[in-house]
Amino acid sequence: MSDIIISPSILSADFANLEDEIKSVTMSGAKWIHIDVMDGHFVPNITIGAPVVKSLRKITKEILDVHLMIDNPEKYIPDFIQAGSDIITFHLEAARAKTCACIDLIKEAGLRAGISIKPKTPAKEIIPYIDKVDMVLIMTVEPGFSGQIFMPKCAQKITEIKKWAPDNLIIQVDGGINDKTAKICKDLGANCFVCGNYVFKSENRKQVIKRLLSV
Ligand code: DX5
Ligand code: ZN
Repeated sequence: MSDIIISPSILSADFANLEDEIKSVTMSGAKWIHIDVMDGHFVPNITIGAPVVKSLRKITKEILDVHLMIDNPEKYIPDFIQAGSDIITFHLEAARAKTCACIDLIKEAGLRAGISIKPKTPAKEIIPYIDKVDMVLIMTVEPGFSGQIFMPKCAQKITEIKKWAPDNLIIQVDGGINDKTAKICKDLGANCFVCGNYVFKSENRKQVIKRLLSV
């Protein structure tokens, strides 16, 4: 249908039934599962850690797309590699001088590496790393919570990233994504959509994912 990737965020799923929740979206056409890791320091919320990723690894073969919203990512990346992640994305704002070290840790383990920027971080700060990573994640809300409103200004960064990006770079957007905001981002050049509430809180997940795949 298209080369669009949908990565439903389990932050909006029923945590008491994660296996069923994941099956419901993978059987509806999602090939990735987005796992939001928050530490209560880098963002004002605490979610889940590597042991949960390890358990999820046993119940799905789909891509585990781990989004680290934590300080000192270099300290914890090895745990998330061990746990069976497929893609690990960390925040530039949290890694700073250790950015290359974080990318190396992930790549040397044979995983795909992603780098993310918050709404207030200019796109040009990604330039030094753009040839080293597999994915750039542009936050379209302040990281920390699901169910927030999409910030159109952040989506403009996609155009800038596109100018510098190698052809195979995945451009992911995360925060307030629905079929309308996904279309805006797709037209600007994004090809991977993280969706929390829009998918998990919908009455017909299959239809919603189908709609997203064809924006
Ligand atoms: C926010 C997280 C997102 C969040 C998206 O900090 O990174 O992945 O779960 O949720 P929605 O799609 O509801 O904005
Ligand atoms: Zn996320």
